[in-house]
Amino acid sequence: MLSDVPPGRSKTFLADGKRILVSNVGGEITAFENVCPHMGGSMRYDGRTITCSWHGARFDPKDGLAQFGVAEGTRLKPMAVAVDGDALYYEPAPEARSPWADDF
Ligand code: FES
Repeated sequence: MLSDVPPGRSKTFLADGKRILVSNVGGEITAFENVCPHMGGSMRYDGRTITCSWHGARFDPKDGLAQFGVAEGTRLKPMAVAVDGDALYYEPAPEARSPWADDF
């Protein structure tokens, strides 16, 4: 629920076997897979940056770009979520199809 994520906070939801970090960045909802690109650590948003609990890498909460630390130069994987009132919905990406899929 959106009310679980007040401004300046985040919460991790489980959907479709994925951990999704949903952050409320000044009223803007952002979502990334909660898997640090360095070594898979878990992260949270503290009102300024998304920070990894394992080795302290920091990421921009809006675009997921690493700003500081051992993961510099990487980017968090964005996840599509939709807001409808107080409900949050995860929208999985359609399966990537091989251009040859219809040949089989
Ligand atoms: S696993 Fe996130 S900084 Fe190392």
